[in-house]
Amino acid sequence: MPTGGPDTEYTFDNGAPEAVPQLRALESFLDPITAARIGAPVLAPGAVCWEIGAGGGSVARSMAEAVGPRGRVLATDIDTAHLAPAANLDVRRHDVRTEPPPGDAFDLIHARLVLLHLPQRRHVLRTLAGALGPGGWLVVEEFDCTAPLRVLTAPSDDAAKLFAQVTDAMLGILQSHGADLAWAQDVHAHLVSAGLVEVDTVIHSQSWPGGSVGASLYETNSRQLEPELIEAGVSPGQLEAFRRLLRHPGFAVLSYQFVSTRGRRPARR
Ligand SMILES: C[S@@+](CC[C@H](N)C(=O)[O-])C[C@H]1O[C@@H](n2cnc3c(N)ncnc32)[C@H](O)[C@@H]1O
Repeated sequence: MPTGGPDTEYTFDNGAPEAVPQLRALESFLDPITAARIGAPVLAPGAVCWEIGAGGGSVARSMAEAVGPRGRVLATDIDTAHLAPAANLDVRRHDVRTEPPPGDAFDLIHARLVLLHLPQRRHVLRTLAGALGPGGWLVVEEFDCTAPLRVLTAPSDDAAKLFAQVTDAMLGILQSHGADLAWAQDVHAHLVSAGLVEVDTVIHSQSWPGGSVGASLYETNSRQLEPELIEAGVSPGQLEAFRRLLRHPGFAVLSYQFVSTRGRRPARR
């Protein structure tokens, strides 16, 4: 059952054993990119921050370090199992789809790989823009899952086809839970129409060789989604071959494009 019970659209389950390696893999690949986007001048000592869908909590912890003892970070998630509070870091269960923002004057609001899962994403984005203080930043980071995943090297053509078949099935499952695979491309325009300024977008993609942390994300995702993959027609044998391929030294794939968009509320004159 996905996190948050049957009323949630979120596809994965933070309580599943595979959630820990999944969240670690995301953090290890994405944290350096996120750090560059939320570093100075976005994050400053004394800032008040909200980390949405905080997952394993690494971004919230690094925010807490950056804002120092005069600042505060609130980390929220529908499942806070992997989050621990600290001196200037609060943790709260919060559903960003249905609950009002826990403040209205944040210096930084950050959401990574959350909104693309939620059918209410456009409304949520507008609400988040309204929860910024003057001059505050909203940083939204998503995978763009529209481009076909480019296999760079594979031990055989059949292996490359199997990779495409299983990853297509996984994307179909995400969509059936309400994910918008193209949402990453829309965020920039939505930040502009929410009245934010200095809006900019950067995109990151890199090769993920067999056995890498990036490739391992497909494996943990395939374990989390196994029952639905089988239901979608992927056989247990194909799943095993897919997982072997992800560890094969002769395999490499280009990652999804990671799209990081940020903008700020105009400062009071
Ligand atoms: C793919 S994980 C990303 C975790 C973290 N942001 C990261 O990038 O490392 C998505 C996170 O969003 C959380 N989430 C899903 N739906 C949510 C909702 N409606 N409100 C708040 N958090 C939600 C999940 O529980 C999960 O921790």
